[in-house]
Amino acid sequence: MSMPDFAWSKTDAQAAAAGPRARFAAAVRAGLSRRPQRTLPPQYFYDDLGSALFEAITHTPEYGLGRADERLLRLHGGEVGARLRLPLAIAELGSGNGRKTRQLLAAMDGRRAARYCPIDGSAAALARCREAVAGLAGAVVPIEAGYLEGLQTAAAARREAETMLVLFLGGSIGNLDRRAAVEMLAEMRRLLRAGDWLLLGVDLERRPERLLAAYDDAAGVTAAFNLNLLARINRELGGRIPLRAFSHVARYHAGERRVEMHLEAREAVEVVVEAAGVHDRLQAGETIWTESSYKYNREEVRGMAEAAGFACEAQWLDGEWPFAETLLRAE
Ligand code: AVJ
Repeated sequence: MSMPDFAWSKTDAQAAAAGPRARFAAAVRAGLSRRPQRTLPPQYFYDDLGSALFEAITHTPEYGLGRADERLLRLHGGEVGARLRLPLAIAELGSGNGRKTRQLLAAMDGRRAARYCPIDGSAAALARCREAVAGLAGAVVPIEAGYLEGLQTAAAARREAETMLVLFLGGSIGNLDRRAAVEMLAEMRRLLRAGDWLLLGVDLERRPERLLAAYDDAAGVTAAFNLNLLARINRELGGRIPLRAFSHVARYHAGERRVEMHLEAREAVEVVVEAAGVHDRLQAGETIWTESSYKYNREEVRGMAEAAGFACEAQWLDGEWPFAETLLRAE
């Protein structure tokens, strides 16, 4: 079963036209009416508080993914930069606070981008990102939007002579199921020209115990991140969901090779969200599935990219955490 309603999927046209709040309400309504498994789409984790909690996750000892990504960018950014023809325009899907990007831009030393467009759903994260990369790129043009919508804007603004580098870091592609991931890459390819580039960060498979710990840290930061999705529904849609009736649960699905995050009802609980037309009741033990994190192996990454119209130029692996940075060229 795959999760519906990602930011880059085509959402209900009426809701989209009515603005982000109506879109959020439509997504909540659709997800919570799914049976047998209720879902909520993970892109809504990242409001200002959620973005701050995600940043906190990257500081937990269990979640080595973010640090691996950053190390690889610092160590190999120079090799990435050396391959890029100037002038250069960079667009980043899900920039967050820009800490990783800062490492990359600094390591690309001497191959300065004329323009850097961070794309993110959180205005607060974009503001921090702008500060983080100050002095490391020509113009910084933040785009508050979903991934593909933002990339479309960035691609429309690119100059004829510019080479484009798209950054999709941090393993974010893992939120999509394998088929949707290839489709997403193919969509990105369609917005690029031959000779453009994509730098893709992907989290790799490893022992399930270690994987699960990364999504259920002892300090409870990931639990807070997950629960904040319900808090956000309460804040923005006037929901009346009792957060304390839910527990954070991380599960590993061996067949699908993915970590799942759920919010599990500890007891029977009423879930009412007027603005979304939700009047629901969960039994104890029923869950809302909030996120999937698919894990890959390095050959699979190349295969997916090739299926989407990219050629694999280089791939770097971290020594401490199984994570791959792959540099792809649009064919
Ligand atoms: C940002 C989607 C890569 O799946 O590892 C971290 C989000 N969720 N802890 C991931 C996340 C729980 C993260 N991505």
